[in-house]
Amino acid sequence: MSAEKTPVENLTEEQAAAELAFLAAEIARNDELYHGHDAPELSDADYDALKRRNDAIEKRFPQLIRADSPTVRVGAAPLATFAQITHSRPMLSLDNTFSDEDVRDFVGSVYRFLGQLPDDSIAFTAEPKIDGLSMSIRYEQGRLVNAATRGDGTTGENVTENIKTIKEIPNRLPAGAPDVVEVRGEVYMTKSEFLALNAKMEAEGKQTYVNPRNTAAGSLRQLDAKVTASRNLKFFAYAWGEMSEMPADTQMSMVEKFKEWGFPVNPLMKRLTSVEDIIAHYKDIGLKRPDLDYEIDGVVYKVDRLDLQGRLGFRSRSPRWATAHKFPAEQAFTHVERIDIQVGRTGALTPVARLTPVTVGGVVVTNATLHNEDYIKGIGNSGERIREEEHDIRVGDTVIVQRAGDVIPQVLDVVMEKRPSGAVPYEFPKKCPVCDSHAVREKNEKTGKLDSVTRCTGGFVCRAQAIEHLKHFVSRAAFDIEGLGAKQIDFFFEAEDESLRVRTAPDIFTLKKRQEGSTLTKLENIDGFGKVSVKKLFDAIDERRTIALHRLIYALGIRHVGETNAKLLARAYGTYEAFEKAMKEAAELSGDAWNDLNNIEGIGEIVARAIVEFFKEPRNVEVIDRLLAEVTPQEAEQIAASGSPIAGKTVVFTGSLEKFTRDEAKARAESLGAKVAGSVSKKTDYVVAGPGAGSKLDKARELGVEVMDEDEWLVFIG
Ligand code: IVH
Repeated sequence: MSAEKTPVENLTEEQAAAELAFLAAEIARNDELYHGHDAPELSDADYDALKRRNDAIEKRFPQLIRADSPTVRVGAAPLATFAQITHSRPMLSLDNTFSDEDVRDFVGSVYRFLGQLPDDSIAFTAEPKIDGLSMSIRYEQGRLVNAATRGDGTTGENVTENIKTIKEIPNRLPAGAPDVVEVRGEVYMTKSEFLALNAKMEAEGKQTYVNPRNTAAGSLRQLDAKVTASRNLKFFAYAWGEMSEMPADTQMSMVEKFKEWGFPVNPLMKRLTSVEDIIAHYKDIGLKRPDLDYEIDGVVYKVDRLDLQGRLGFRSRSPRWATAHKFPAEQAFTHVERIDIQVGRTGALTPVARLTPVTVGGVVVTNATLHNEDYIKGIGNSGERIREEEHDIRVGDTVIVQRAGDVIPQVLDVVMEKRPSGAVPYEFPKKCPVCDSHAVREKNEKTGKLDSVTRCTGGFVCRAQAIEHLKHFVSRAAFDIEGLGAKQIDFFFEAEDESLRVRTAPDIFTLKKRQEGSTLTKLENIDGFGKVSVKKLFDAIDERRTIALHRLIYALGIRHVGETNAKLLARAYGTYEAFEKAMKEAAELSGDAWNDLNNIEGIGEIVARAIVEFFKEPRNVEVIDRLLAEVTPQEAEQIAASGSPIAGKTVVFTGSLEKFTRDEAKARAESLGAKVAGSVSKKTDYVVAGPGAGSKLDKARELGVEVMDEDEWLVFIG
C-alpha cells in the first residue's frame, strides 16, 4: 500500500503545477503504452488513481489546467477498434544485456549450449536496435495481404491499410518469392520528421508529441489511414514469421533477400565472429548514434546460421540465439524530497524516494524505488558496496537518477558537495508504518546472511498486506473480476457495515448473499455504484465461480509463484485437490511429494519451499476452504504437444551426452512436451543414458524404466 501522497488540500500552487505537469505527461505516456504495443506499465487501478488525482488538483486549482491536460485532450490515442490478428508465429522479445561482460556471457552460453561444433567459430550478426514499433507484414502469392502490430506477441492489431500507406514497404514481392512470406521489422519515424511535425503542431496551437516512438505509434494507429499516410513513416526489415520456403540459410542472407525484394534494411548490420569485434561494432554504432536520423537504444546480436538458431530455440519469451545490448541509460540530477515506505502484499517494506520532478530521457520522473534498507546505505544484495562509503541516500540530497528503457527509475548516486548540512541518515522503520507490527529482516537459512528485505510480521492483521492481497486476487491474471478494482477493494475493505465488508477473498463471493439478507446499507444506494453497476458487479463475480486452475493458484499470492509458476503447477497437478494434497504431503521437505514438486521443470527449491510453507499455515488453508465453498477450479489442460511421442512423459538424461549438450537435450525434450527430471523414480518414463552413466542407470534398470542411448532417442523423437 502506498503511503499517502500530500493531500490535495495541502498542496502549494507550485507543487500543484509541478504535479499537473507530471500527471499530464505520465497519463499521456500510459495512454500510449496502453493503446500501443507494449504491455501497459500500470494496472487499471493505478492508472485511474492518476486520473483521479489529476482531476482533484484541477478542481482546486482551475487556473493551472494545462493545454495538454488529460481532461482537456480528446482523442489523443485512437480507440482500440482495430481487428485482431493472431500471429502465425509468436512475435517474441529479446533478452537485454548491459555490459561487455554480459555480452561475453551471452556468446559463451551459445557455445556452451551447442557444445562442440565441427567448425568451431560461430558467427553473429550485429545491428542497431531500432526504437520504433515492431510489425509483421504478410504476403501471399507475392501480394501484401495483411499487417499486424506485435500486440501481446500472440495477437496484434490489424493495421493493413495503414501499413499500405508506407512508401518504403512494397505492396508486391518480385516473382520467385515464396508463396507465403511474413516480413518482420520496425516501423519508425525519423528524428527530423518528428521535429518538423512538432513544430507544425506547435504553430497550430496543438499538443506536441513526446518522442518519435510514441508519435510513430500514434500515427500508425489511426483509423483514418490518410493520417498515417501524411506522417511519412519508415521501416527496417530484420526478421520474419511464417515462410512457406526459406530463401536463405543465414540471418545475414535473409536480410539481403529482404533487400532484394525491395525492403529497406539497416546499413549498419555486420556479420562478426569474435566477441571483441562484436563489442567494437557496438561501440562504433554508439558513436554514430547521435548522427543517425532515427532513434536506437542498443545493438541486437543474433546467431547467423539459421540451423543453429533452430537448435538454440527459445526460452518462454525470447530466443536463446539473440540478445539486445542496450546503450547506457539516461541520467539527470534532482532532489530527494521525502522517503516513503510502501508495504506490499508479502509484507515487504519498500522505501520510495519522492523526487522533485525531472525529465530523464523524455519522461518525467518523480519517484524512484530505493529497494531496501541496504540500498539506501549503498550496499547491494550480496553485501557489496554499490556506492562509495558515506554516499547513503538522505532526504534533502541531490541525487543522480537513471532511467533505462522501460525499467523503474533508479537513484544511482548522491552528489556529496550538495548535501545540506542538516541532512541526517535515513532511519529505516523498525515497525510497519501501516499496522505497527515489528518489521524484521529474516535470516537466510542457507547463507546465514540477513535478508535485504525488511518485512512486516503482521501477516493477516496488517491491513496493507490484506488489502494488497485482495487487489492481487482480483487482478487481471488472477480472478480478473470486472468492476472490482483497487478503488472498490479499498471501499469494501473499509466498509463499516458487515454486509458490505470484504476482508478475505471468499468474502467477495458471499457479498451478494450478505447484501440480499441485509436490511442495512444497500450497495446500490452508495455513491459511485447504483442499481445497474451493482448488478454488473455481482454478475461479474458470479462469472468467476468457475476458474482456471492456474488462475486460482496464482491468485493465492504464494511467494515466488507468479503466472508462469502457477501454470507449471496447474499442468503438473491437474486438479486443485491433487495440488493441495501433494503440498501437504511435502510438508517435511522430503519424500515423494517433495521430490515430485522439485522435479517440475522450472520450479526450484526456493519456490518449492515457499509453496509448502504456505500450505503449512492453517489460516491460509482455512481461507482456501472457504473460497472453495464458493468457487470451482477447472481441471488444467494436459501438456499438449500433439503428435509427439514424448508429450506428457518424464525423461531423465544421464551420463555424458555426445550428440548434444545437456541443455539442448532438455530444451528439445521440453519443446516436445516432455518433463525432464533430475532423478529416476517410479514416475520416470524414459532414461536416456550416455557413456559413463552410473547410479541413475542402475536405478532405471531396477525399476524397469525404459532405457535408450542417444541414437535410439533421436530416432524415437523423430
Ligand atoms: S529481432 C525473435 N532486431 O526489439 C527476435 N528486434 O526487445 C525478434 N527491435 O520486439 C526481434 N530493432 O520490436 C530485432 N534489429 C532488431 C530490432 C528489434 C528493434 C525490437 C523489436 C522487438 C524488440 C525486442
